[in-house]
Amino acid sequence: MKKYQIIYADPPWSFSSKELQRYNGKRFTSMDKHYPTQHKDWIKNLPIRRITADDCALFLWTTDAHLKEAIEITEAWGFKYVTIAFVWEKKTKNNKTAVNLGAWTLKSYEMCLFGTKGTMLKYKKANNIYQKVEAERTKHSKKPSEVRKNIELLFGELPRIELFARQKTEGWDVWGNEVESDINLTSRQSRAVYCRRPESFCISYEAMMSCGECPLYKPPPA
Ligand SMILES: C[S@@+](CC[C@H](N)C(=O)[O-])C[C@H]1O[C@@H](n2cnc3c(N)ncnc32)[C@H](O)[C@@H]1O
Repeated sequence: MKKYQIIYADPPWSFSSKELQRYNGKRFTSMDKHYPTQHKDWIKNLPIRRITADDCALFLWTTDAHLKEAIEITEAWGFKYVTIAFVWEKKTKNNKTAVNLGAWTLKSYEMCLFGTKGTMLKYKKANNIYQKVEAERTKHSKKPSEVRKNIELLFGELPRIELFARQKTEGWDVWGNEVESDINLTSRQSRAVYCRRPESFCISYEAMMSCGECPLYKPPPA
């Protein structure tokens, strides 16, 4: 399988039932209206180690609610968490700070974490890339193209792939369910069980097995 030195990923994070209830009182988030979301165990169990070169950098988008999971996933994929590479300040069309409702504070930022495997410093090409990216908030979940460009400037022409991509970009391989993918990836966490208890939402097979107290789960359709 082809090996990449840059992995750029924007996972379809799912929210836990408690977070959801806090936001909108429903089990499924509004994200599910836009695309299927995935449990963190499913994301964690993608065989990313198979596509990473010995020296490889990971750029992983996360929301602040998923920060802990994002670091766990960074490590599960074989990377050491290093820093926050980019912070996106979302702007409106009129260049004002855009705001999303949050349970505690009004939110205007998303983060892209940086992890490495092997030694990536020797591939670094630029010292003038800013962490902060100010860019307009456009389509739901769409990340600013400036971040992809910054990664290209930072590391030059290394073999790179965007995971969970929704569009093809020149110079990048892509994988996702909304694009024609260059590679196949299947999570080892493929069996999902959808629990119907309102306060405990076991989406993974393992979570359901360890829950053990739920009489209402229903296996997914065959
Ligand atoms: C947060 S969005 C990515 C947005 C993208 N970075 C952009 O800027 O437009 C997550 C993507 O993961 C995709 N996705 C969800 N489940 C998937 C699966 N099982 N396999 C591949 N892609 C999946 C979603 O359909 C969605 O396109």
